[in-house]
Amino acid sequence: MEYIRVRNRGPLEGRVTISGAKNAALPILAASLLGTEEIVLEQVPPLKDVEVMVDVLRALDVKVEYLDAETIRIDASQVNKTVTPGELMNRMRASFVVMGPLLTRLGRTFTQMPGGCNIGKRPVDLHLKGFKALGAEIDEEPDAVGAKAPDGGLVGGKVYLDFPSVGATQNIMMAATMARGESIIENAAKEPEITDLANFLNKMGAKVRGAGTSTITVQGVKKLHGARHVIIPDRIEASTFIVAAAMTGGTVEVQNVLSAHIRPILAKIQEVGVRIEENDDDTILVQSTGRLKATKIRTLPYPGFPTDVQAQFMALMCIAKGQSHVEETVFENRFMHVDELNKMGALIVTDGNEAVIRGVEHLVGAKVNATDLRAGAALVLAGLVADGETQVHNVFHLDRGYYRFEEKLKGLGADVERFVE
Ligand code: UD1
Repeated sequence: MEYIRVRNRGPLEGRVTISGAKNAALPILAASLLGTEEIVLEQVPPLKDVEVMVDVLRALDVKVEYLDAETIRIDASQVNKTVTPGELMNRMRASFVVMGPLLTRLGRTFTQMPGGCNIGKRPVDLHLKGFKALGAEIDEEPDAVGAKAPDGGLVGGKVYLDFPSVGATQNIMMAATMARGESIIENAAKEPEITDLANFLNKMGAKVRGAGTSTITVQGVKKLHGARHVIIPDRIEASTFIVAAAMTGGTVEVQNVLSAHIRPILAKIQEVGVRIEENDDDTILVQSTGRLKATKIRTLPYPGFPTDVQAQFMALMCIAKGQSHVEETVFENRFMHVDELNKMGALIVTDGNEAVIRGVEHLVGAKVNATDLRAGAALVLAGLVADGETQVHNVFHLDRGYYRFEEKLKGLGADVERFVE
């Protein structure tokens, strides 16, 4: 098992370049199942989760070829399998988004039910509600689910999502691309990754309108063709580096970031006393004195504060002057990092989905566990400002979502090293 050792070496300084967005790349890779001609994707982050999705595609007879580390050529002309391997489904919950494309292209699909995970129950009822609205028959077993289109294929329909689920919006949107007639998704998720997927689908010849708003309309087409697409920059990775710069009192230029995608982060980071300069060349300059003020955050669907930055921001709050407050409204159990941060001298008390953080002058290095992907990032950030040495274990979680995390931090002067136990 590997762990990351972090030692406090003062403020981060320099430039860091953000990679393509994992959460945009995954559904776009799944969407490539819809096309019968060549697809080329650029700025695909070489991450563990992306590898799993590539394995899923290959298991479905898609030809996937790496043109370079971040450019992938895909040929899905031969897709004919309707069953997704359960083992891969277990490795990554997000593989469930292949269901919509398979259902619309092949008329049926069967897959193992994605399990819960350590951030709480993660049902798929809204995905299935959408498929039903398009005429599919659903066969739910305790640990597997099948969907079958009516003879003649899916038909356009209307679905209202009780919660603007990102995955359900993507799955239904993809299923609707080749359904007969018009489909409408109401209370759809508005995340930038939804818009990126819609842009990609439209390049393939789909007719998707309204992505980025809460009503998405899809006019079904008979066939989708090839396309070339550059994945958007990762707003969560960018936010993580902005928080790191803020915590360490550094000056960091974050490159390849779309500031429109991280409004809530920029607003909150300025509120705690950090200077932000947005430039029109997709760079943001973060200047921090390290003297941070307490604040409040409440996670919400986009454009609210992202749940995927909650843990990192909580690490910042641990050293901000005064009492901060976090409310997590998207996932039911996303405070696993609290005990770990407290091991480092933080003063955090939780009550249900709320946490109160009393800022301390100093965190202290400790042996801690990355309980999930973003928690892992939060602990590394805490280690950057803690006295002594921090060891973050279970770092495989980090590799699922951060490309060259240690290398990028080292480039900013951090003392971060990976070891094998
Ligand atoms: C995506 C992101 C993840 C992020 C999350 C919320 C990917 C690969 N992952 O996950 O990083 O944290 O959005 O921004 O893009 N829900 C239901 N029924 C459903 C589906 C979801 O009740 O059928 C609930 C979930 O339990 C959860 C909430 O909706 O409480 C949000 O989930 P969702 O938006 O679907 O997240 P994901 O797409 O899984």
